[in-house]
Amino acid sequence: MRMRKKKNGAARMEACTEWLLKTPEDLWALKDRAPFYLEIGCGKGGFITATAKANPDRFYIAVELVSDALVTALERAKAEDIPNLRFVNLNAKELGEWFAPGEIAEIYLNFSDPWPKKGHAKRRLTHRDFLAVYKPLLTEGGKICQKTDNVGLFDFSLEEFAEAGWRLEAVTRDLHDSEWAEGNIMTEYEKNFSEQGSPIHRLEAYPD
Ligand SMILES: C[S@@+](CC[C@H](N)C(=O)[O-])C[C@H]1O[C@@H](n2cnc3c(N)ncnc32)[C@H](O)[C@@H]1O
Repeated sequence: MRMRKKKNGAARMEACTEWLLKTPEDLWALKDRAPFYLEIGCGKGGFITATAKANPDRFYIAVELVSDALVTALERAKAEDIPNLRFVNLNAKELGEWFAPGEIAEIYLNFSDPWPKKGHAKRRLTHRDFLAVYKPLLTEGGKICQKTDNVGLFDFSLEEFAEAGWRLEAVTRDLHDSEWAEGNIMTEYEKNFSEQGSPIHRLEAYPD
């Protein structure tokens, strides 16, 4: 996602410090709130904010690589004063330095960057190297939920999960016209793509 540099980004982030985990120690201080529900690549945070509000008994953490996107998400959580949500400015490949084994119940991968060039396959968030990072962090029975409009990324993900021995469930190539549509919370990208008529692909993957 290309983003224009936000004015006063650092200061705006600092103003939301209550919702921002700056170091692994900040996360470890929340240990008693585990298991965590984690979104990777939350963008502007519409999905995770609405999901945390709808499930006040669960504790949500959203990871985002690009700080300018994170500022918007943080300001949204602060404006809505959401107590069960925190954000981390992090590359997903470093998750193992923050989370302990068996600490995450669900991981949401929503409209991850498709990286269509073959040479960029390792950057896709469902590449086997990323699956190897996620697997030990999931609880027993834990899962990944993926949504995307991108057929190439979806096909690649199905292959990577199968190759790594993950079990697939609730697979659909048209989420909004499926049995899993009810209760679906849309992301910013999902709203845009479905308004343009693109079907939304969705899967659940279990490492057991
Ligand atoms: C296409 S956007 C989708 C945003 C949002 N999930 C949605 O559906 O509206 C993908 C987001 O993933 C973030 N991202 C990409 N690679 C990442 C990584 N390795 N770790 C954390 N975030 C990443 C990008 O910065 C971007 O904000």
